[in-house]
Parts: sequence; C-alpha cells; structure tokens
Amino acid sequence: MEKLAVFGGPKTKTTPFGTGKRIGKKEKDELIDAIDSDILFYVFGSKVKQMENLMAAMYGMKYCNGCSSGTAAVHIALGSLELPPGTEIITSAITDMGSLTGVLYQLLVPRFADIDPETYNMDPDSVETLVNDRTGAILLVHHAGLPAEIDRFLEIAKKHHLVLVEDCAQAHYTTYRGKLCGTFGDISAFSLNHFKLITTGSGGMVMTNRDDLEEKVKLFIDKCYFRDGRKRNPYFLAPNYQMTELQGAIAIGQLEKVKSIVNRRNRLGMRLIEGLAKIEGIIPQKVPDYCIHSFFLLVVRIDPQIIPASVQEFCKALDAEGIPSEPNKITGGMPVYMYDIFQKMNAFPGSKIPFVSRDLDSNVEYPKGLCPRAEEAFEHTFNFNITEFYTEEDIDDMIRATEKVASYFREVKK
Ligand SMILES: Cc1ncc(COP(=O)(O)O)c(C=O)c1O
Repeated sequence: MEKLAVFGGPKTKTTPFGTGKRIGKKEKDELIDAIDSDILFYVFGSKVKQMENLMAAMYGMKYCNGCSSGTAAVHIALGSLELPPGTEIITSAITDMGSLTGVLYQLLVPRFADIDPETYNMDPDSVETLVNDRTGAILLVHHAGLPAEIDRFLEIAKKHHLVLVEDCAQAHYTTYRGKLCGTFGDISAFSLNHFKLITTGSGGMVMTNRDDLEEKVKLFIDKCYFRDGRKRNPYFLAPNYQMTELQGAIAIGQLEKVKSIVNRRNRLGMRLIEGLAKIEGIIPQKVPDYCIHSFFLLVVRIDPQIIPASVQEFCKALDAEGIPSEPNKITGGMPVYMYDIFQKMNAFPGSKIPFVSRDLDSNVEYPKGLCPRAEEAFEHTFNFNITEFYTEEDIDDMIRATEKVASYFREVKK
C-alpha cells in the first residue's frame, strides 16, 4: 500500500493546478468606457442596460434586471410576488443563507424540504408533503450547479397554484432537458459574487417573462421609485439594490464568456465523475443524462461501510496529497435550518417573527431530524472545486489522489 502524504509519503500532485485570469481585456475596456462616460448610475448609464439585454437575449427571456447581489436578487424576486406576511416558502435544507435572507425580510415563513441523496437537490416528494393552504411559493435551488428535477416542480406548482422561483445563484448556463435553468419558473435569481461561475465581485440578476412581476422587480430594486417620469410616490417598502455601471460593465465581459466557462467545467467535471465512480467506496454526485452540470461544485460521497474515515480525515489526507477539497463547503457543515437564526428564532432580535407570531398566524420550528437525508449528507460528503483553468492532468491527479486515500482507508478496515 502506498504511504499517504499525510503520514510522510510522496505527494500525488507534483505540478501546480492550472490557473488563469477571470477578468480580461473586454471587462477592462467596458470598465474604462463606463468611467470615461462619467456616469456610474444605472438609470442614466448604458452598461447595466446593455448587460440586461445581453442576458435576456442569451436566455430568450423578456426581462433581465441587474442588482447588487444574489441575496438581493432572491429578495427582489420574492418581493415582486407581493405575498402576504406569514406566507410559507418551501426551499432547500442545503443552500446559502442568501436564499433565506429575503424570505425573512419579507416576513415569509421558510419551510425546508429534504434532499435527494444522490443529486443533493430538493426532493419533489418532500416538497409536496410540505404544501398546505399557507404555501405561496417554491424557491427552487439548483444546488452546486446541477439542475433540480424541474419538471416535477413545475407539476407541483401548477397542481397547488404556487409560484415557482428559481435560485440559479450556482447554476449559470446550466441546462435541464436542453433548456436553461432560470427560464422555467415565474421568476429567477442569479448571483455574480466572487465564487460564482462568472463574477462582478458582488452582483446579481433577476429574470422573468411576466409583465406584472417585472414592474414590481424594477420598483423593488430601487426604493419603489418610478424612474419613468411618473411622480415619486413609493407605495410599498423596497430597498436600494441597484447595480452600478461598474458592475454592469464587468458583467458584459463576463456574460460573453459564460458559455465557454460552463462547457469547459462540464467537460472537466464529467471526466472527474467518471474517474471517481470507478473507486470503490466513492460515490460522486449523480448527474441525470438530461442535465448539464456547470460544476460550481462537485459533491462526493464516501461510503462509510467501505471507507471507515470521517470526511474531515479524508479531506485532510487529500489536502496533504496536494488536492484541495472541502467538507461541507456551502453551509458550513449543517443544514441551514440548524443555524442560530432559525434555532433561536432570531431573525429580528427581541421577537420570534416571522417564525412564531400571532399577527402572522405562524408557528414553525426546525428541530434536529427535520430533514434527515440532508443531515446525513453532511456526515458523508465533501466537495471538490474545479475551475475552467484546470487541465485534464489536474483532474487525473485528483482521481489518483482520491483512489490512493480511499485504498488506504479500505485497507485499514481489513
Ligand atoms: C443558492 C444561493 N442563493 C443565493 C446566494 C446569494 O448570493 P450572493 O452571495 O451574491 O448574495 C448564493 C451565494 O452563495 C447561493 O449559493
């Protein structure tokens, strides 16, 4: 048996991972253009509008709106729905807090669906068991860049007259049965933060085909100010979530690259999956053959019956081999409902709103065991991060290192 690097053996990875620059000449030119125009405000400038038109055309959508973050995008999407406070929103137990921030600010009540243990996306059956007469929307997260089982969610939404909001923060240019994620629901939200497939540092986008929602989206981004000459008279509460011309300029350049970034990541990611699937005791995230995974992350399961190691031990050994991996990257190792904000019902300190409230007629709690498959997943899965700059050799090194570490722990068991 080969000695693991963590115990002083030779490291698997002896060459550096491929790197590259994400922000190039196009972004720089657009940015200089924005600065030279002396206008950084989206209403008077052209860059945010140009970015919105590009994105809408690329996705075949009627409307796209730039905004300040993915968190803002989800909040705007929910705000545009004008759901009464206390309305329940069903979302995933495994997602970024940014999916939940807007839910809570709108005094909506989150309900958490369990996940499919193979794709780690929301399980439609679990969602359906949560639907009741207080449910207003499904906030569908495409986890890790893999499309959720959209046809089922569309069916459920239709059957129960619910709005479908797609959280595509991790799923740029990702397709389900040949159609882009973000074009299925009533409205969709994207993030452009540093970690996403394309970035403006911070930023977001909201898309819809519905005229009624688009009007509210525009107002929700901008303090409920009319920007079309109508007299200023805000009639509902809306934050300032404007995208600046600087972000818009960068986004133009990034959007031109998104397709090639996703193509490249998909090729590398599928090569990684193919290699990992051959390793006894290692189960990579399942990618249905009608889905294109954009590999924001890859989720990898360790079968504890075959590999008697904790994910922390396994990742530590991979790290020593020169292969970065992370246990539980997105949520910090627990389903979101285990965060203090939910456990202590502390969204608005000093009250239990919106979780428990007489005014909202709400009374929910999030006990441990609420979503057992999500809880279990954190114990037995870790994430690989790949970038479009990695080479095929990098991927093969990742596979070799995983096999080396897995075989060590398999042997330990014997
Ligand atoms: C699924 C999901 N939704 C929303 C967000 C929030 O995006 P942002 O960080 O741009 O506010 C993120 C960010 O990680 C995310 O992964």
